[in-house]
Amino acid sequence: SFELSLRPQNLQQYIGQQKVKKNLKIFIEAAKMREESLDHVLLYGPPGLGKTTLAAVIANEMGVNIRMTSGPAIERPGDLAAILSDLEPGDVLFIDEIHRLPRSIEEVLYPAMEDYCLDIVVGKGPTARSVRLDLPPFTLVGATTRSGALSAPLRDRFGVLLRLDYYDEEALAEIVKRSSSLFDVAIDDQASVELARRSRGTPRIANRLLKRVRDYAQVIGDGAITIDLSKTALELLQVDPLGLDHIDRKLMETMIERFRGGPVGLDTIAASIGEESMTIEDVYEPYLMQIGFIQRTPRGRMATAPAYEHFGYSYPSET
Ligand code: ADE
Repeated sequence: SFELSLRPQNLQQYIGQQKVKKNLKIFIEAAKMREESLDHVLLYGPPGLGKTTLAAVIANEMGVNIRMTSGPAIERPGDLAAILSDLEPGDVLFIDEIHRLPRSIEEVLYPAMEDYCLDIVVGKGPTARSVRLDLPPFTLVGATTRSGALSAPLRDRFGVLLRLDYYDEEALAEIVKRSSSLFDVAIDDQASVELARRSRGTPRIANRLLKRVRDYAQVIGDGAITIDLSKTALELLQVDPLGLDHIDRKLMETMIERFRGGPVGLDTIAASIGEESMTIEDVYEPYLMQIGFIQRTPRGRMATAPAYEHFGYSYPSET
C-alpha cells in the first residue's frame, strides 16, 4: 500500500537509531558471510518507533521472506506450528507484542528457537503422543513495548537485543522531509522542524501530523507546507507546542487538579480519564516521563513542577 511505501526498505534509507543500525549492519553482514540465518532479535521500546519497519528491513537486508503475526494472535500450539512449518530456510518470523504470547505457546517456542524443532502433542487421552518436527533455520524477530514483561527464559533465547529510543528533532525533521518528498509535497525547513518538535519523538506521529498538515495546505493554502500554515494547522489539530494531545493534557490536568499532583496510582488515573491502564503505561506515560512531566515513585505517579508550569498551574509551595 501507499502507507507502507513511507517506510524505509533498507538500513540505508532508515533514518535515526544510529546505534541500532550500526550493530544490526554488522550482525547481518556476518550472518550473510557465514551463510547462516541471523540470530533471533528482540526489539523493544515505546510504540511508533519503527519496530515493525525494522523487522521488514532486516528481512530485506538478509534477502529472505518475512511472516508477520502477534502474540495475542497465536492462541494454540497448532497456530505456531502452522506458521513455523511453512517457513523457508532463513526466513524472518516477526511476532509483535511478543510479551502477550500465552505461556503454553512460549514453551513450544523454546526448542524452535534453540534447535529448530517442534515437539507437538497429537491425539488426546491415552493415545496422545509427542511428535518431533524439524524446522528450517529461521530468525525470530520479537517486538515488545516492555522487555521487562517478557519471561526470563524467553528473553534469554534472543541473541540480539536492540532498544529503540525516542528520535531526536533532527532525525524526525529528516523523516518529515523524506515523507514529504515521497508525497511530492513542498515543505520548508522551518515547517519540518516544527512538525518534528511536535511529534513526541515518534516517526509514526510525525507522519500522521504531516498528512493532516498536508490536508490543510491543499485546501486552505496552495499545497506547499510553510511554517505559518503548519502552526495554524497544528493549532486546529489541538497539538500543543510540545506535541502533547488532548489525552496527554487530560491525564496531566487530572493528576494536578483531582489528585493534587499525586502520588496517585496508575489504575486510579486510568479510571478517572476513561482510558485503559495499559494504554497509559505503554503509550502516554513513557513520553511524559521522558520530558520530565511525570515521575514514578513507590507510592504512585507524581506531576512535576515543569508539568504544572506547562499547563498553566502554579506549583504548590512546601508550606
Ligand atoms: N518513516 C518512518 N520511520 C522512518 C525512519 N526511521 N526512517 C525513514 N523513514 C521513516
